[in-house]
Amino acid sequence: MDDTTSYKTDKVTFTVLVTGANSGLGFAISCRLIDEFLFTRPQSQTLHLLFSTRDARKSEDTQRRLRKHLQKTLQEANGRTMGISLLLEARVKLEGVLVDLLQLTSVKALAEQLLRRNQKIDAVVWNAGIAGWKGLNWPKAIWHILTDLIHASTYPTYPIPLEGLVTKAQTGSSDEPQLGQVFTANVFGHYLLTHWLSPLMGSETRIVWISSISALPETFSPEDLQGLKAQMAYEGSKRLTDLLVLTSELPSTQAYTSTFLPEQEGQRQRPKMYVTHPGVVGTSIAGLPRLLELLMFAAFYIARWLGSPWHLVSAYKGAVSAVFAVIAHASQLPELEEREGKGKWGSATGVYGDERVARTEVEGWAFCGRVGVVPTGSVTGPVGRYRGRRETTGEGREGFEEEGRRVWRELEALRGEWEGRLGGIGIGQEGSVVDG
Ligand SMILES: NC(=O)c1ccc[n+]([C@@H]2O[C@H](COP(=O)([O-])OP(=O)(O)OC[C@H]3O[C@@H](n4cnc5c(N)ncnc54)[C@H](OP(=O)(O)O)[C@@H]3O)[C@@H](O)[C@H]2O)c1
Repeated sequence: MDDTTSYKTDKVTFTVLVTGANSGLGFAISCRLIDEFLFTRPQSQTLHLLFSTRDARKSEDTQRRLRKHLQKTLQEANGRTMGISLLLEARVKLEGVLVDLLQLTSVKALAEQLLRRNQKIDAVVWNAGIAGWKGLNWPKAIWHILTDLIHASTYPTYPIPLEGLVTKAQTGSSDEPQLGQVFTANVFGHYLLTHWLSPLMGSETRIVWISSISALPETFSPEDLQGLKAQMAYEGSKRLTDLLVLTSELPSTQAYTSTFLPEQEGQRQRPKMYVTHPGVVGTSIAGLPRLLELLMFAAFYIARWLGSPWHLVSAYKGAVSAVFAVIAHASQLPELEEREGKGKWGSATGVYGDERVARTEVEGWAFCGRVGVVPTGSVTGPVGRYRGRRETTGEGREGFEEEGRRVWRELEALRGEWEGRLGGIGIGQEGSVVDG
């Protein structure tokens, strides 16, 4: 496989895998990717969008809705340039794949299916996720929203967690350890999939993770990697995502990243991981009934009008950062991160809903991994920032890197254990095994 052709204008097919594409942000990322791809990439390029759902019915429904979105985009393009839709339509190939991240055998099956084709992957977007809440503490939620709208809806403390939630047994073996459910859906399933798909990745493949603005340091403890004792396992899984991605290019994690993403033949460098977040958008992750969902949207709009930089409200707008991470020109992302430091790329907005991509502060990493440095395009100022945040100091930065190294070490060990239990990846050609 020659990886030198990706991102060049003569590259014919650009393949992207998006997980959890049937709803909310994942569906919006898929739609926005189609739109931006068609109008920013050369006419010679085709987008092959592999969208994942959990079952065949959701897959068919998503395919139908994505087609409908494509038709709308094509009609609008035709209104500007008569007949262009014929050219554009041929440049999008949509294909559903199935995976349930809570069943590691299903994750493995998807990896095997894609490895069998040996088709290069240009980007993945690890969007699927669960909140792991059982409901909201309503009195607290109402009070917080009425008295402190922006902060309370950006950093909510009123969801009631389902503490200690674990997945169903994975292998049927009696000595199988438990796996945290939120951890497995949000991080570990994707982590394994990344490793298993690494033979299909080239130097310029982008691995895009979806984090959250609410990934606060106090929600995660490396002693409880899977969040089994955590009160805020969802937020903790997102902090873990930040730690993994932001430390992924440091020399101190290389012992682990080099086994996680082993160098492939012909690769000039390992594929890079990027972390993005959508700001605050209205999706079914909140699990609210219809009427309350409408009130949630109203509250989000008011928060935006009051100056919140994070209330994108619509999932399509919230998708801006993930789509940027997938298709931005090398000078706008990998080269920029090399020059100015690695960042957490958030979807931000102005009062009128004018969305943009902005660097987001991460406690212990700051905006770019360099203490006191604030690159242009970072969200600063008091509105929308966590009130209890601590300024990143040299010591804090060292602590972040140390924690990053520790979680890399533990995740690599966990991967080894689970690969042992699940067996090697077989791609069905004369018993060939890619990994074990
Ligand atoms: N909404 C926000 O404001 C916000 C803010 C920050 C970050 N995010 C992140 O954005 C991502 C998408 O969330 P959303 O808000 O769009 O929520 P959503 O509408 O509930 O979408 C979640 C998606 O993940 C899929 N999924 C859940 N569990 C899965 C599993 N075990 N295996 C495979 N797929 C699974 C769901 O599929 P099913 O329909 O089959 O369940 C669905 O497609 C998540 O990572 C979330 O943490 C959202």
